[in-house]
Amino acid sequence: MATTEASQRAIGAQNPGRGAAPTRRGFLGSVAAGWVLFATGAGAGLLGCVRFLFPNVLFEPPSSFKAGLPADYGMGVDERFKESNGAWLVHVPSDPLSGRSGVDGIYALSTTCTHLGCIPNWLAADQKFKCPCHGSGFRMSGMNFEGPAPRPLERFRIVRTDDGQILVDKSQKFQWEKQQWPSPEAYLKV
Ligand code: FES
Repeated sequence: MATTEASQRAIGAQNPGRGAAPTRRGFLGSVAAGWVLFATGAGAGLLGCVRFLFPNVLFEPPSSFKAGLPADYGMGVDERFKESNGAWLVHVPSDPLSGRSGVDGIYALSTTCTHLGCIPNWLAADQKFKCPCHGSGFRMSGMNFEGPAPRPLERFRIVRTDDGQILVDKSQKFQWEKQQWPSPEAYLKV
């Protein structure tokens, strides 16, 4: 019997871990690993909850904006709302394309190119809008005349508020190819 125990101890010494009972250190290590896994899972769940409560929201500029008084606008293209609101306000003495020959007024042009959506630049020396992406050109009226743009720039609804200011409403657009430019709210008589 003593010989058998001695030989088992010898085998254990040659093969540590084989058939050995779990040590206290190993047990504590397993518990710690479990807690790490639990904490990681809980953290991921908490992050998911936070993202659910505060989802990624794309903040876009409001669809309508006040643009001051008509008297603030000299003749020609005004770019003060190009960057902030995506609109040019154009003051002209006459607009035959909308049926307002000889009628002093203002219209609001969209700054979105009708080809693939880039933003053209107003070239005052050439009196045209020129798109930097593929070279489309538009007259001051918004009419396309060169490059791949298939149709004119769109116009936004433009009206006067109770306090006499200009209100541009981008939620309503007027398209020349749909004969919408003559619409009463596509041109503000001043
Ligand atoms: S996006 Fe303006 S010409 Fe292509």
